[in-house]
Amino acid sequence: MTAVPLDSFRRELERLLADAEAALAGVADPASLEAARVEFLGARSGRLKDTQKSLGGLAAADKPEGGRRFNEAKNAITACFEAAQVRVVGGAATAAVAAIDVTLPGAPLRLGHLHPLTHTIRRVQEIMGRLGFESVDGPEVEDQWHNFEALAISAEHPARDPLDNFYLAVARGADPLLLRSQTSTVQIRVMENREPPLRIVSLGRVYRPDTADATHYPMFHQVEGLLVEPGTTMAHLKSVLRLFASSFLGGDVRVRFRPSFFPFTEPSVEVDMEWGGRWVEMGGAGMVDPAVLQAVGYDPDAVSGFAFGLGVERIAARRYGVDDIRDFYRNDVRFLRQF
Ligand code: DAH
Repeated sequence: MTAVPLDSFRRELERLLADAEAALAGVADPASLEAARVEFLGARSGRLKDTQKSLGGLAAADKPEGGRRFNEAKNAITACFEAAQVRVVGGAATAAVAAIDVTLPGAPLRLGHLHPLTHTIRRVQEIMGRLGFESVDGPEVEDQWHNFEALAISAEHPARDPLDNFYLAVARGADPLLLRSQTSTVQIRVMENREPPLRIVSLGRVYRPDTADATHYPMFHQVEGLLVEPGTTMAHLKSVLRLFASSFLGGDVRVRFRPSFFPFTEPSVEVDMEWGGRWVEMGGAGMVDPAVLQAVGYDPDAVSGFAFGLGVERIAARRYGVDDIRDFYRNDVRFLRQF
């Protein structure tokens, strides 16, 4: 095969450069700019690419000179293309910026804020903190000891039914784990690790396989309170709950106890609060059962304590006048903006 003469290669480059300059000088819109890019600089079948093939056909002695000229032509075409690009596309961007009237008055900036439940949790922590209750956390994945056994919920108790709990899949033979169904677990965790006197409050998520409706949700929040000191009585429990309720809802709130049963308290009560002419059940409470004190290594003859567990969604719903707790989880900004 005869080699391509250097002269004809040089002429090919000159023609290419002249054509490219003429074409790029004429583009006036993004579509013709793109067409010119494909024709001259296209990676697969652009004319520059074709010329590169002729470069391969030069005699070996001509290749350094041919290569240098090819690169010059390539740089010149690329520069031409970039100039056209600024003219066509950059011009459009400039026009768009010019269309913004910076003298128009701005729209009010909406700042985000805390979710109503987060706000409620912080407020409860603050009020209980003023009463001397330290805020503590516990894990949401629990074992049977902390969720049931230490709380005197025996193996046959219906509260342990798989249909009423979110048990997790564990290795065969391993101890069952579950998403905690109550924050009373934290009472046990704290008492196992500390000596009385104790005043703690723990707020967090709990899980139960309930169908969601206006008052139920498979995940909700509880506030758990625990006080263990020598000489504690039901009167202390009621005073603390009344102080909490009046701080949170207002001075005219009333607190009522109704006899009830929980395996881990004796006696046990349901706690209702009345505010604005309506009684609402807020949760359960009672004196910590001596069996529970014993399970964590406390001496029931030396100390006594009270505990309570209230529904955070109930408290928040009452406080804010929300009648469907599902609204707290829909993430509809039209709802959330109201708080
Ligand atoms: N853990 C109970 C529940 O989820 C509520 C409760 C009742 C908590 C009595 C307590 C208590 O601390 O003393 O239904």
